[in-house]
Amino acid sequence: EKGTYPHFMLKEIDEQPLVLRRIIQEYQNEDNEIKLDPDVRQAMKDCDRIYIIAAGTSYHAGLIGKQFIEKFAKIPVEVHVASEFSYNMPLLSEKPLFVYISQSGETADSRAVLVQTKELGHPALTITNVPGSTLSREADYTLHLHAGPEIAVASTKAYTAQMAVLAILGVDTANAKGIDLAFDPMQELAIVANAMEAMADQKEVFEDLAHEFLETTRNCFFIGRSIDYYVGVEGALKLKEISYIQAEGFAGGELKHGTIALIEEETPVIALATQAAVNDSIRGNVQEVIARGANACVISMKGLEKDGDSFVLPKVHELLTPIVSVLPLQLISYYAALHRDCDVDKPRNLAKSVTVE
Ligand code: M6R
Repeated sequence: EKGTYPHFMLKEIDEQPLVLRRIIQEYQNEDNEIKLDPDVRQAMKDCDRIYIIAAGTSYHAGLIGKQFIEKFAKIPVEVHVASEFSYNMPLLSEKPLFVYISQSGETADSRAVLVQTKELGHPALTITNVPGSTLSREADYTLHLHAGPEIAVASTKAYTAQMAVLAILGVDTANAKGIDLAFDPMQELAIVANAMEAMADQKEVFEDLAHEFLETTRNCFFIGRSIDYYVGVEGALKLKEISYIQAEGFAGGELKHGTIALIEEETPVIALATQAAVNDSIRGNVQEVIARGANACVISMKGLEKDGDSFVLPKVHELLTPIVSVLPLQLISYYAALHRDCDVDKPRNLAKSVTVE
């Protein structure tokens, strides 16, 4: 139950370091090697392309998972929104592996695709928080998120758990394929867990940012480049879902192709700057919006920070930054919703699992 927490969402945000540590434990053997169902390992080795199918926040985790699997295991990955896939199926490769990501394991849109791809005879792996769920039972293999029950409609700890498990899966597949990586996922995830814990202890900072940037606004933009872009899209979903502020996530470089027309005096723009390779270019985008009157809130990674940034994230491995950078966005959304007297755990018009197509 909620214990001393006012909302499940806040409790679940706080549980994230613990969940990461549980995942490290569950996916590691006594020799500190990755422990994973050998059938999953084989299926990953055997496929020539991975198709990730998911909805909402789980889809956003899939976008990050693609980076892990392609960068570590060198397998091409496509990520698809479940509700679009069925009637707009792309040309499939010869040996596809379908990966369904779903907190609940009950999302009807994802299940419809699973039924279809099973009929075509393609193997399926479900990554879920509920191993007995429909998507888990009907797939060939399951990886468990070990996040514990997620009650708040807005997904938080399941999202970070999904990314952690996808990182482990990517590294495991690389190992199985004999690809040499100078990357110990368990060690790096432990660093991430500590970083999250340190940030979760600074809630007043994020409450202040919610006040400063979102108090009265009707809209908000999130920008980022490279993997920061995907985290921005998740940040926007979180914010609109619980605070009803209209929010959109954009790739920094796309702004000038249209959306910048919406920037006016005091428009909040939350920018993520965690990637060295695109630090200068995202900073350029921030200047562009500031020049048009925007209120820019920059969240950067230690080592890449500049004067005036609103928050500097503790340093973690560059590829794992999404797990860390989403936490401020979750907390800012939480406080923005709270300040507007919204029903944080049960936002209007939404259900925890969407069991209709
Ligand atoms: O249970 P699932 O992960 O399959 O759910 C998918 C989406 O419905 C879900 O992530 C939704 O977008 C959340 N409410 C977002 O916080």
